[in-house]
Amino acid sequence: MVKTDWLLVILLGLVFLSLEGAEGRKERILGGSPYELAYSAINCRKHSASIKDFGGIGDGKTLNTKAFQKAVNQLSKYASDGGAQLVIPAGHWLTGSFNLTSHFTLFLHKDAVLLASQEINQWPVIDPLPSYGHGRDAPGGRYISLIFGTNLTDVIITGENGTIDGQGALWWQQFHMNKLKYTRPYLIELMHSNKIQISNLTLLNSPSWNIHPVYSSNIIIQGITILAPVTSPNTDGIDPDSCTNIKLEDSYIVSGDDCVAVKSGWDEYGIKYGKPTSHLIIKRLTCISPYSAAIALGSEMSGGIQDVRIQDITAIQTESGIRIKTGVGRGGYVKDIYVKGMKLHTMKWVFWMTGNYGSHADTHWDPKALPEIKGINYRDVVAENVSMAGQLDGISGDPFTGICMSNVTIGLAKKSKKNPWVCTNIEGISSSVQPPPCKLLADQGPKKSGMCDFPTESLPIDSIEMQRCSYRLNL
Ligand SMILES: *[C@@H]1O[C@H](CO)[C@@H](O)[C@H](O)[C@H]1NC(C)=O
Ligand SMILES: *[C@@H]1O[C@H](CO)[C@@H](O)[C@H](O)[C@H]1NC(C)=O
Ligand SMILES: *[C@@H]1O[C@H](CO)[C@@H](O)[C@H](O)[C@H]1NC(C)=O
Ligand SMILES: *[C@@H]1O[C@H](CO)[C@@H](O)[C@H](O)[C@H]1NC(C)=O
Ligand SMILES: *[C@@H]1O[C@H](CO)[C@@H](O)[C@H](O)[C@H]1NC(C)=O
Ligand SMILES: *[C@@H]1O[C@H](CO)[C@@H](O)[C@H](O)[C@H]1NC(C)=O
Repeated sequence: MVKTDWLLVILLGLVFLSLEGAEGRKERILGGSPYELAYSAINCRKHSASIKDFGGIGDGKTLNTKAFQKAVNQLSKYASDGGAQLVIPAGHWLTGSFNLTSHFTLFLHKDAVLLASQEINQWPVIDPLPSYGHGRDAPGGRYISLIFGTNLTDVIITGENGTIDGQGALWWQQFHMNKLKYTRPYLIELMHSNKIQISNLTLLNSPSWNIHPVYSSNIIIQGITILAPVTSPNTDGIDPDSCTNIKLEDSYIVSGDDCVAVKSGWDEYGIKYGKPTSHLIIKRLTCISPYSAAIALGSEMSGGIQDVRIQDITAIQTESGIRIKTGVGRGGYVKDIYVKGMKLHTMKWVFWMTGNYGSHADTHWDPKALPEIKGINYRDVVAENVSMAGQLDGISGDPFTGICMSNVTIGLAKKSKKNPWVCTNIEGISSSVQPPPCKLLADQGPKKSGMCDFPTESLPIDSIEMQRCSYRLNL
């Protein structure tokens, strides 16, 4: 008797447990399981929805372009009522390009993957940028980016390190074969926008540049991982372009082009448009880019680049640390650049300035439009296994001036060049730089090793307060 009772209890228990399991599963299938979400953002949202609410299917095969467009359209109605958040749950969400809206957050679950469609008709063609006059790959228009927004305010793209996969291999192949009529798309482009946050995401295999904020202000980019094959064409990491008040931090980039490229328009188009990139902070960036720079300034800099503060940069197997790229016809300026703290390993050049970078928009560039390169400060740099310490080439009749280098220790590779420094048409000063730099960087003696400027006053972007947003959702 006692035995049977026990059996009954166990049997009933098992039935109960399995029922509960079925209930749990059913709830999840019906979209009922609560999900806790918490993150820091420039703004929290009053309304929240899932891409599934708009017919999205995360099976990696169904095209969701319409679902994304419908979601953003519907949620844009909440812009003046506390804003809205679109959550992308776990799954593979194939989609063509879609546009964002104001007072809006796109949030990617940690196991969410946005997969860029490889059908070219999913990528409408838009006008070239006015400050470029042309597409970057080809004259005329350009394919719109996967995630695009223009004339927006208060827009957030974030997640728990969810993934946006550009599936770029097809584009790279078509580009190499010269088969594309228009310029390749970017992964994320925001134009004419104010108050932008892009954070905690992984971006894979962009067709071209990864993140391109342009003609925008008050931008925070943080916690981004960008991965692309080191041989993929023009897969720049992050390209702030004619933007002001930007903070870019805590990011890890492996790419086939510059990890960060600071820009402001191209030749006569950029000069005419006249919109500089200014007040930019780049902090705690790790870069691997064997054929390009950790941070490039230019080559498109015709609207000017001013007040860039670069701190705590790590680069490994990267062609150069900081590179200034410009040329006759660019006009514009690169000035008040401050670099403090770089750790570099296995580099071709630590310092590189190029005054004869070609790559013109067209043949109408003005040969009298000379760039002004002035006030470039580098301090506290340690580099190992370097082929050339510096190649600094200004422009004849237009020297690059006010270059300052202090507290720099460069360990040369076994197979390094005989002359670790080559300098032409530049002027500046140095202190405690090893190996001893070229004569054009006049040595001020070892006591001045802390001499190169780095601003101590903060920028407005530093005082933006992040809010803690938390949601309990049914995904
Ligand atoms: C997205 O914005 C661009 C530029 O304003 C526009 O050409 C395009 O039609 C928009 N796409 C959708 C789906 O609304
Ligand atoms: C977006 O803003 C720019 C710059 O202010 C303006 O020239 C353009 O007309 C605006 N576009 C739209 C669609 O409002
Ligand atoms: C985000 O994901 C990428 C790719 O899986 C990984 O390399 C990176 O370490 C992750 N970042 C964080 C903060 O977890
Ligand atoms: C986002 O990344 C930061 C580090 O950059 C980390 O402190 C934070 O916890 C992350 N947030 C989420 C929601 O993963
Ligand atoms: C030094 O750099 C060379 C390439 O210039 C590379 O082949 C070698 O592995 C590097 N050595 C170390 C110790 O990283
Ligand atoms: C020189 O740079 C190192 C880091 O590379 C730093 O620890 C040290 O404080 C710097 N010295 C001076 C005088 O600034």
